[in-house]
Amino acid sequence: MIDEKNMGNDINPHSFPMEIFQQARTPFYYYNMEVLQQTLEEIKRHASGMNCSVHYALKANGNRKITSEIAKHGLGADLVSGREIEAALEAGFPASEMAFSGVGKTDWEIKLGLKKGIGCFNVESVPELEVINQLAGEMGKTAPIAIRVNPDIDAHTHKYITTGTAENKFGIGIEALEPIVCHAIRLPHTHLKGLHFHIGSQITQMPPYVMLCQTINDLQDHYEQLGIRFEMINVGGGLGIDYNDPDAHIIPDFKSYFGIFKQHLNTKPNQLIHFELGRSIVGQCGTLITRVVFVKENRNKKFVIVDAGMTDLIRPALYGAYHKIENLTAQQTGPTEEYDVVGPVCESSDVFAHHCKLPITRRGDIIAIRSTGAYGESMASNYNMRDLPACMFSLTP
Ligand code: LLP
Repeated sequence: MIDEKNMGNDINPHSFPMEIFQQARTPFYYYNMEVLQQTLEEIKRHASGMNCSVHYALKANGNRKITSEIAKHGLGADLVSGREIEAALEAGFPASEMAFSGVGKTDWEIKLGLKKGIGCFNVESVPELEVINQLAGEMGKTAPIAIRVNPDIDAHTHKYITTGTAENKFGIGIEALEPIVCHAIRLPHTHLKGLHFHIGSQITQMPPYVMLCQTINDLQDHYEQLGIRFEMINVGGGLGIDYNDPDAHIIPDFKSYFGIFKQHLNTKPNQLIHFELGRSIVGQCGTLITRVVFVKENRNKKFVIVDAGMTDLIRPALYGAYHKIENLTAQQTGPTEEYDVVGPVCESSDVFAHHCKLPITRRGDIIAIRSTGAYGESMASNYNMRDLPACMFSLTP
C-alpha cells in the first residue's frame, strides 16, 4: 500500500490508481481514457469549419479498446497493412472512411481492400497503380485512389521518421507526377480522387506545414490549368507531442495545427481535406508502468534495472527517443540520484534513459515511462521470448 503523502510534488496521485498498480503484474501500458476522449473532442473542435475528415493512423496504436473509442468519435482510419484493415473494421471504422498507404501492398492486401470497399488506396508507385487497376478489373470493381506525392519538404524531425524528402522511399516525386496523374485518370478500373502527402512524424514546428500548403496550392493551380480538379487532398499526419513535459501539454496544439491549413491551404469548392494523425491522438494517453527489479552500481555508475525492456518500448533504443521517467513510489521530496534506467533484454541498447535524475530508487519501486501511447505497444516484440506487454485502462466502459 502506498502512502499518498509521499507521492511526488508534480505527480498527481489521483491520475494513477496506485493501489491497483501495486498489485498488478508489471510491465503494462496504462491508458488514460479521459485523456484520449478529451484529445478527440479537441480535434473535433479545432477541425470544425473545414470540409475535412480526420483519419486515425492505426500503426500508432492498434489496441482494440483504443481503436474502438476513436471509431466511436467518428474518425476514419489510415492503414498500412491487410491486418490493419481487418482490425479497423472490427473496431467499427466504416470501410468508406479508410485509406490504405504503404509502398509494398501485396496482392492479398489490395484484394481485401477492394472486397471491403475501402475509401482510398494511396498509391506510391507506377507498378502499384498497374496492379491495383488489374486486380480491380479482375474483381469487377473500380478502385478509388490517390497518388502519394513526395513533396521534398524537410520536416526537421528524426531521420528515421522523415518521409517527405527526395531521398526516402515514399511517394512519387513532383517532377514525375504529371504523366502518372494523366495515366491514372485514363485507367479503366481506378478512380483518381486526389493527391496524398505526408512529410514526417513528430513535427513540432509549423513552417514545414506552411510549405506543404504552398506546394499543394501550386500543384492544384497547375492541374487546374490542365483541366484536372481533385475531389480530395490528403495532407497526412505528423503533428508532434511534448515528450519533455507531458503534463504541460497533455493535449497537443491542434488549434495551431488545423489553423495552419485553414489559413494557408487554398481548397477548391467541395474539395475534401483528409488528415491522418497518429501520435498526436494517442501519444499522451499512454504510460508504460514498470517495476524496479534491481538497483545496481558498477564503476560509480548506478543502474535502475526495470522489468520493462526494449521489447515493450523500442523508441529509445531505435531512435534515441526521450521519454520522461518518473518514480511513482519513492519519496519525492528527498535527495535525487543520477541513474541509467535499463531493461532486462540482452542488448546494450536496451536503455530507456542515460543520466536520469530520480529520487533515491529502490527495488520494488513503480516507474512510469510517460508519453508512450503512440508507437509503444504497437512496436512491441517477443524478442528473448518475452511476453508482449499487458495493458490497463482508466475507465471500464
Ligand atoms: N500517414 C502516413 C502515410 C504515415 O506514414 C504516418 C506515420 C502517419 C500518417 C501518422 O503519423 P503521425 O501523426 O503518427 O506522426 N515509429 C515512429 C513513427 C513512425 C511514423 C510512420 N508514419 C516513432 O515511434 O516515432
